[in-house]
Amino acid sequence: MRKNIVAGNWKMNKTLTEGVELAKKLTTILTENKPNCDVVIGTPYIHLSEVAKTVDTSVIGVSAQNCADKVSGAYTGEISAAMVKSTGANYVILGHSERRAYYGETDAILKEKVNLALNNDLTPIFCIGEVLEEREAGKHFEVVTTQITDGLFHLSAEEFSKVVLAYEPVWAIGTGKTASPEQAQEIHAYIRKTVNDKYGSEVADNTSILYGGSCKPSNAKELFSNPDVDGGLIGGAALKSEDFHGIITAF
Ligand code: 13P
Repeated sequence: MRKNIVAGNWKMNKTLTEGVELAKKLTTILTENKPNCDVVIGTPYIHLSEVAKTVDTSVIGVSAQNCADKVSGAYTGEISAAMVKSTGANYVILGHSERRAYYGETDAILKEKVNLALNNDLTPIFCIGEVLEEREAGKHFEVVTTQITDGLFHLSAEEFSKVVLAYEPVWAIGTGKTASPEQAQEIHAYIRKTVNDKYGSEVADNTSILYGGSCKPSNAKELFSNPDVDGGLIGGAALKSEDFHGIITAF
């Protein structure tokens, strides 16, 4: 059966010292209170190696927030999937809406990143989701279909089974405006059906689909209690150990 996962995306927050401190706090909390779901923290690149040494990666998975679309070579400032893997990290967030919007990441680029992540034994947490105008125009189903099709549907069923999906409506990210549990369930069920149509029910039933966008301790339980919502990708509330743990305990 599919896994429930609570993943934190720290985005561009915390110095190395602060990041290691947060990772230590989470380790202490989760050692004392065993979580009923998988827990992942997505740190800035420079934190990965230290954080991976700080946590027990079998209890807290460590994720990068991006990787390059090239294997290696003359790509100044880029970090490859192999480099991410060499830090001890085991996940990589790909296709976050902030990367799509601010750094020009297209589905074609993301396809390369997904391939490289899988080739390097990293679990991609692949983000999809519509902007407000698309939701208001009733185009959200179409938008997520294109993102999944163009970014992921070149994969074999075996490869796709290693991917975690995260539905993050852009209008809910950092806005305090969460999708209602009904809105989340509706589109998560649609996403699962889209996977089912391509790969069949066994793959679809085993795919974890996380919700992201202003998820916090006060709304996590309601969101996660939906049958097709298998956890969350958490931004702001992942920056404080008490808030992040409050979300983890929704399971
Ligand atoms: P917030 O939880 O801050 O809305 O961010 C969600 C997100 O973008 C996680 O990737």
